[in-house]
Amino acid sequence: MISEYRTGLGWDVHRIRAGLPLILAGVTIPSEFGLEGHSDADVLAHAVTDALLGAAALGDIGMHFPDTDARWKGADSLQFLRHAHALVRAAGFEIVNVDSTVILERPKLKDYRLAIRESLAAALSLTLDRTSVKFKTAEKVGPVGEGRSAEAQAIVTLVRSAA
Ligand code: C5P
Ligand code: MG
Repeated sequence: MISEYRTGLGWDVHRIRAGLPLILAGVTIPSEFGLEGHSDADVLAHAVTDALLGAAALGDIGMHFPDTDARWKGADSLQFLRHAHALVRAAGFEIVNVDSTVILERPKLKDYRLAIRESLAAALSLTLDRTSVKFKTAEKVGPVGEGRSAEAQAIVTLVRSAA
């Protein structure tokens, strides 16, 4: 029997500001600056949430968690991820794998890769070998390269659950 596969794409950007926490997939990275946003500004969690919703054509993060809603002020973005995953499962899909890239000039993130992957995998009840997180600088070019913002990209593959 041929399985039905879906892919979804996610992207996000947040401004950098001194004194704020830098949270990536729920992991707080030691840093003098962090990301600004209505929620905890977890740019990676937001990109993966949109990729999940996109793969099942369930809209986007702002549709499910509007930033005008006081409930989501300072919210732990892992709850957005878990909710998107629950919606995707309710629509009859399970996750095959997640790949992602965080684009941030500094600090260096590679020492935190395993912690970030483990946190993302746990939030999605996914095994580590299906959960990929990559890091890039923007080579000092543009708002990311100048240290004014951070971006994340994600792609998710879903498969229709066995009936
Ligand atoms: O951007 P660039 O290609 O120079 O990044 C080289 C490597 O540095 C990446 O593959 C990644 O492993 C690491 N990196 C990192 N933290 C960042 C940006 C890049 O650990 N903020
Ligand atoms: Mg965001």
